[in-house]
Amino acid sequence: MPSLTALKRDFIWGVSTSSFQIEGATQEGGRGLSIWDTYCRDGEIKNHDTGDVACDHYHRYAEDVALMKTLGVQAYRFSVAWPRLLPQGRGAVNEEGLAFYDRLIDELLAAGIEPWLCLYHWDLPQALEDQGGWMNRESVTWFTDYATLVAKRYGDRVKRFATFNEPSIFSLFSRSLGKRDRSADDKLHRTIHHVNLAHGAAVDVLRALVPGASIGSIHNVQPILPSTPADAAAAEVFGAYWNEAYPDPQFLGTYPEIMLPGIQPHLQPGDLERIHRPLDWFGLNHYSPVYAKADPEAMMGFNWGDRPPGLPLTPIDWPINAPAFRDTLLRVHQRYKLPIYVTENGYGSNDEPDANGAVVDPGRVGFLRDYIEAMDQAVAQGADVRGYFVWSLLDNFEWDSGYSVRFGLTYVDYKTLKRIPKTSFHWFAAAIKAARQG
Ligand code: NOJ
Repeated sequence: MPSLTALKRDFIWGVSTSSFQIEGATQEGGRGLSIWDTYCRDGEIKNHDTGDVACDHYHRYAEDVALMKTLGVQAYRFSVAWPRLLPQGRGAVNEEGLAFYDRLIDELLAAGIEPWLCLYHWDLPQALEDQGGWMNRESVTWFTDYATLVAKRYGDRVKRFATFNEPSIFSLFSRSLGKRDRSADDKLHRTIHHVNLAHGAAVDVLRALVPGASIGSIHNVQPILPSTPADAAAAEVFGAYWNEAYPDPQFLGTYPEIMLPGIQPHLQPGDLERIHRPLDWFGLNHYSPVYAKADPEAMMGFNWGDRPPGLPLTPIDWPINAPAFRDTLLRVHQRYKLPIYVTENGYGSNDEPDANGAVVDPGRVGFLRDYIEAMDQAVAQGADVRGYFVWSLLDNFEWDSGYSVRFGLTYVDYKTLKRIPKTSFHWFAAAIKAARQG
């Protein structure tokens, strides 16, 4: 058990997932294509994995909600697949897609679990990408119309909304992070600015259409550390793009100074006010520190850097550093001064069942215990953290890594789609129970 001293009894414990990573049924129920269907088709994913079946959550959502109930979580963060509701991204509405999330939301409410709905977890409709995607300022209108549809349909039952999940990650990765392509600099700024505007517009829609809405946005905040002292300036630039490009304008109304020359050409009068709409909470995703180096030929002059030898690592080679999590929570608290929900934290590995069919994952248990304790310390030192969601309920489609990386508290056998709760599932269930009993 984690030893906790500062978390309040009403602290919210949850799990997170996202549509493309778990739903499957990509060609069912009238769903249109997303950009991730295209990446999978083009063979860009490890082992040529696709999202076609994934965890088959589209058909097995009731079983998955039952798992959450057993786990004892108070909240579930999921995302809506934009191309399921609007197969072409805008225009004709797909009633079957809308009905799927009705069923999911009703099932959650019946189980006493609060739905936390995220509008965008990276599965942009391909039809909109074909019109320039986020590079096109029209995307702000597309997103506003989509948000309006969601708010009107689900706002009677859903009160917790997030606009975007980790916008800096999909922006940096889709615009060449790690490649040597300075022509990506401007594409990156365009994307950032339009996504920020889309966020602001969606907040206004949700606020107007959903009485009592509690609205946030979700950001991946990780310390960005220089590989060598000579990389310090590049790490600072990298950090501004990774950690502040979205939260600063959304929560503070300003872009980091370092970004202004790139953003200026796309800034129209009134834009910063349009982005800076009142929010209720900061959604923080955190895994581990990132190392950076200077690379003048790479986008914005920064690139992935080497890590110092000897760091403790997860089986997928991500550094384990719970004190960095504590410090990040304190920094985000000081900078943005809003309640924080940890909307993702978790441990990637390659778990497999043992001879008895059990999935024993002590590494994940140790990781979660240490990170939850670090969060408790941050709260003891003044950080206003109100909830913690594990990534993820289930093993799922881990983007470029396909199904080769497993983050779930529940093992998924991709041949049979059977779910097997891992040791960490039982551990987390007991930890929640103990925390709520105080
Ligand atoms: C960040 C993303 O939001 C999620 O989609 C991803 O699977 C996890 N972190 C793990 O990489």
